[in-house]
Amino acid sequence: MQISVYRDYQTLSFQAADRIIEMVGQKPDAVLCLAAGDTPRLTYDTLAERAASENIDFSQCTFVGLDEWVGIPPENEGSCHYFLQKHLFEPVRISSDQIHLFDALTSDPDDECRKMNQLISTLGGIDLMLVGIGMNGHIGFNEPGASPERYAHVVNLDEATQTVGQKYFRQPTVLRQGITLGLKHLLEARKVILIANGAKKAGVIKQTIEGPITPELPATILRMHRNSEVMLDEEAASG
Ligand code: PGA
Repeated sequence: MQISVYRDYQTLSFQAADRIIEMVGQKPDAVLCLAAGDTPRLTYDTLAERAASENIDFSQCTFVGLDEWVGIPPENEGSCHYFLQKHLFEPVRISSDQIHLFDALTSDPDDECRKMNQLISTLGGIDLMLVGIGMNGHIGFNEPGASPERYAHVVNLDEATQTVGQKYFRQPTVLRQGITLGLKHLLEARKVILIANGAKKAGVIKQTIEGPITPELPATILRMHRNSEVMLDEEAASG
């Protein structure tokens, strides 16, 4: 696992956007899994600016979703779907036939997982995953205790995730379950980048890098990946 530390959030975001652009330059039909969340916000703003000014062609790429809150409709501002549309797909001008996100309103979440697993396998796997890290060390909704053997699945959310997740919503929202790609997807992706910024992530980042590799801190699994990178600003690296 490579570790890169940048001066501040701006520089980190610029570099993360650069990794995505680099991937698409090398492989124009790349399969990308880019997370929602506060952390990658500026990465996507930068990506949109550079896509326009440098004429970067994403038209052959495929985008697969990382996770979603079960039961939260796509028009809800707190959904991953809404976030990605607003901050990534619309500004970067990705057409809807290139986008495959989890349907959080499905009556059959297990089937939704099977469909996503099948799609990723048909596409030949994920080329680049860009993920954040939860305060409890989760990646996507792979919560503490998640098995590294699992592909997409439905999960009962950790209490920390239910509480921290409120920040994405205008009103208090019941968040009980998530649907997520599994750690096996992460391990099989050709490249995984975890980004984190701010002092509040310093503790969990220290554990991810220096603590024991354990399912209790799912992000530590990245240390078993042959091509993973943790990109941090100085505050997140301060532990
Ligand atoms: P954040 O979320 O980017 O909003 O901090 C990260 C996560 O929970 O995975």
